[in-house]
Amino acid sequence: MSTYSAIGVIGGSGFYHLKPDSTSEQSAFIDLHTPFDEEPVRLTQDELNGTEVYFLQRHGSEHKLPPHRINYRANLWALKEVGVKKIIAVNAVGGISANLTPSTLVIPDQLIDYTWGRDQSFFDGLNSLQDHIEFTYPYSSELRDILLNEAINQNLPIIKQACFACTQGPRLETAAEIQKIKGDGCDIVGMTGMPEASLARELGLAYACIALVVNPAAGLSDEVITIDKIKTILDSGLQDVRLLLSASLGKL
Ligand code: HPA
Repeated sequence: MSTYSAIGVIGGSGFYHLKPDSTSEQSAFIDLHTPFDEEPVRLTQDELNGTEVYFLQRHGSEHKLPPHRINYRANLWALKEVGVKKIIAVNAVGGISANLTPSTLVIPDQLIDYTWGRDQSFFDGLNSLQDHIEFTYPYSSELRDILLNEAINQNLPIIKQACFACTQGPRLETAAEIQKIKGDGCDIVGMTGMPEASLARELGLAYACIALVVNPAAGLSDEVITIDKIKTILDSGLQDVRLLLSASLGKL
C-alpha cells in the first residue's frame, strides 16, 4: 500500500474514466478486497496534471450497481486503504431551485438524507470502530473552497451553495416528492450522495462533491425526463467537470 496521500475521485453516471480518451484496457487498476464485500473494489490508478489519482466507478465496472445496491462501505474503505485522504465525488443530479437548470455545475454545502436500508456506517457494533461523527457541515470547506476558486479561474459558471437531497432510487421521484423535498430546503436531488459523504467522514477523509444538473427534477418542467436527454447533457457537462477537476487536483 502507498504511504503518501493521493486524491480519490469517485465518478458517477456517465463518468467512467478520469480522462475522456482512456479505455479500461489502457488503465492500470488495482482490485482491492475489503471486509465489506466478497467482490473486490476496482480502483484505477491515474495521473492528472501531475497529481496521482485513484479513480473509482461508483456503480462498478459496466455500471452494474443501482444506487441502493452500491457497496458504499467497501468503496470508501478501498480508497482509504490505498492512502487517499481527500475525495472529490462527481454526481449527476436533478435541479430543484429555479436557477439550477440542466448543465449547471454546483458545489453543495449541505445535504438531507432520504435514503433507507443502506449500510450507512462503519460503526455497526461488529467491528472495533465506534464513534458519533460530527457532521454539521457534511462537505470539506477546504476542498469546496479550492473547487470554487478554480471554477472562477477557469471561467466556469458555478453555484457556490446548495442543499443536496439524496433519495433512494432507482426510480426518479414523483412531483409531490419533489415539492416536499423543495419545502425541506433542498436545491438538487440525486441518489448516491449518501451514505458516501458520512462514510468518508467516519474514515477521516475530506470529501466534497461536484454536482452536474442533468434534468429539471420531476414535475418542474413540462418535458418528460428521459435517459437520452440526460445523456446529452452529461456528454457536454462532463467536459466542464473534467476541466474543473484537472485545474483543482494540483491544489488539493
Ligand atoms: N432525481 C434523482 N436522481 C437524479 C436525478 C433526479 O431527478 N437526475 C439525476 N440523478
